[in-house]
Amino acid sequence: MCNLTIDINGFCPLRCKFCYQNLDNSMLPEEEIYRIVDSDPKFQIIEIGGGEPFIDPRIIRIIENLRARNKSLHISTGGVVIPEGFMDLSDKLREGIQVQFSIHYSNPELFKIVAQQKDGTLFNKIIDNLKIVKEKYTTVISTTVYKENLDDLPNIVDLACSLEVPIRINPAYPVGSGKNVELLTSYQLDQLRGYLLTQKIMRRGMVESPLIHKNNCAAITNAYGIPKEGPCPIDCASKKYVSPRGEVFKCEFVDFGGK
Ligand SMILES: C[S@@+](CC[C@H](N)C(=O)[O-])C[C@H]1O[C@@H](n2cnc3c(N)ncnc32)[C@H](O)[C@@H]1O
Ligand code: SF4
Repeated sequence: MCNLTIDINGFCPLRCKFCYQNLDNSMLPEEEIYRIVDSDPKFQIIEIGGGEPFIDPRIIRIIENLRARNKSLHISTGGVVIPEGFMDLSDKLREGIQVQFSIHYSNPELFKIVAQQKDGTLFNKIIDNLKIVKEKYTTVISTTVYKENLDDLPNIVDLACSLEVPIRINPAYPVGSGKNVELLTSYQLDQLRGYLLTQKIMRRGMVESPLIHKNNCAAITNAYGIPKEGPCPIDCASKKYVSPRGEVFKCEFVDFGGK
């Protein structure tokens, strides 16, 4: 089974400091999305990202057409809006969809810094939207950690656990538009791994991270120098990434060619 990530657009209301995406307002044509999905029957899990898929006017139709092909969907969102009609999709459509809320802050002040926003009230909107979506969809929180939000991570983990939503913690990779992100030092990374291991045990599986497993990720090796010990999906040719401009890469976190 292969994993296909398609970033369907290059527009987003947020401006996360580490974001690899070139937010140039591009839009991957819908027929191109289906052509890529249909090009290989091994693509069973389709990851939909952007930009922001939830502000894309085509999103409901894209979901319906991909679920009609019996594909499982993992939709990644910053959570600022819930598209009209999303909460009314049928049980049959919903059962194959996982929604990932990307939340890298536990409060409005840090939200303003990380997502480069003037107004912090959107943070509360994101949490309200998460509470609505999790009632009907399998939901997970994904947090990207870099220097500015490291100290807030325990609060983000508390927030996720209080909402009863599993959290996945990934380090930031210096690629594409996020190439200048301030990475964690190796000392901070060691401390973080200790913290994550304890949390994984204490929180009974609610907290997960590639940083506490044997590293098989080329992006982690490239960014943090942690040796790569086993094959990753790129080595097995079981992953493909398509940008909003239709560019094809092996992985968005390794060889993303954005600006
Ligand atoms: C590019 S976003 C697109 C979808 C949606 N806007 C969102 O934030 O979930 C997809 C995921 O990539 C993560 N991401 C973006 N740039 C990254 C980077 N340089 N390193 C690690 N993760 C990154 C985001 O945190 C998010 O979880
Ligand atoms: S990571 Fe997602 S929410 Fe943040 S700026 Fe990039 S596309 Fe937008």
